[in-house]
Amino acid sequence: MRIALFGDVVGRPGRTILLANLPKIKAALQADFCVVNAENAAGGSGLTVDIAKQLLSGGVDVITLGDHAFRQKDYKEMLSLSRVVRPANATSAPVGVGYVEVKWKNVDVAVINLQGQTFMQPSQNPFLMADEILKKISSRVIVVDFHAEATSEKIAMGHHLNGRVSIVAGTHTHVQTSDAKILHRGTAYITDLGMVGPEESVIGREVEPVLNHFLTGLPQKFQVADGPCQVSGALVEVDEQTGIAKSIQTFSKILE
Ligand SMILES: [Fe+2]
Ligand SMILES: [Fe+2]
Repeated sequence: MRIALFGDVVGRPGRTILLANLPKIKAALQADFCVVNAENAAGGSGLTVDIAKQLLSGGVDVITLGDHAFRQKDYKEMLSLSRVVRPANATSAPVGVGYVEVKWKNVDVAVINLQGQTFMQPSQNPFLMADEILKKISSRVIVVDFHAEATSEKIAMGHHLNGRVSIVAGTHTHVQTSDAKILHRGTAYITDLGMVGPEESVIGREVEPVLNHFLTGLPQKFQVADGPCQVSGALVEVDEQTGIAKSIQTFSKILE
């Protein structure tokens, strides 16, 4: 089966572009299944019930989140939706689930969300949490979104789960890395998928306030930028009998 993964969707521009183009992109990629990180989809921080439902009815199979999972007022209701997962190791997570198992045709597909410990809110150890979750799930096809800042932590997770999951894809930095590969035990790996958000921006935010902040050190309001969007992610082909990844290819386009 062919699984399309998209990096963090940023604000209205990101979700509008994604929803308008998803059927076309999926058809072009011949994607069977689609996983989207939507932790920045509502106003740049978090996700609402309404937006989650729009994404899920617009062709997204599973939504993953990150350090902004609990930002919006209706986060409890949003996290109770099926096919939405928040980081499994988030300590501030009284609601929601950290992984789901869903059906694609007659194939069980698990999607796990974890967050890193470097430059993030304290959380439980994501490596040990991954081990715990793998004991509980029976799906062969397993997708892990590791939402983390440090490249070293993400690469280490790729090796930790190599041969035990189908895909380890990093999110959070909003910048796509050029290291997509199949690790030697058959796990597809990429350090960061990139984002679905305004291209002329600082990781999705308006340039000027971010620059002012760096120039003056003063707090600024970081609004989501506008204009054409970078649409970045990866397509992974997985053997659905064994869960082993056969290929990974990235995509990154600017769409208006
Ligand atoms: Fe994040
Ligand atoms: Fe993000």
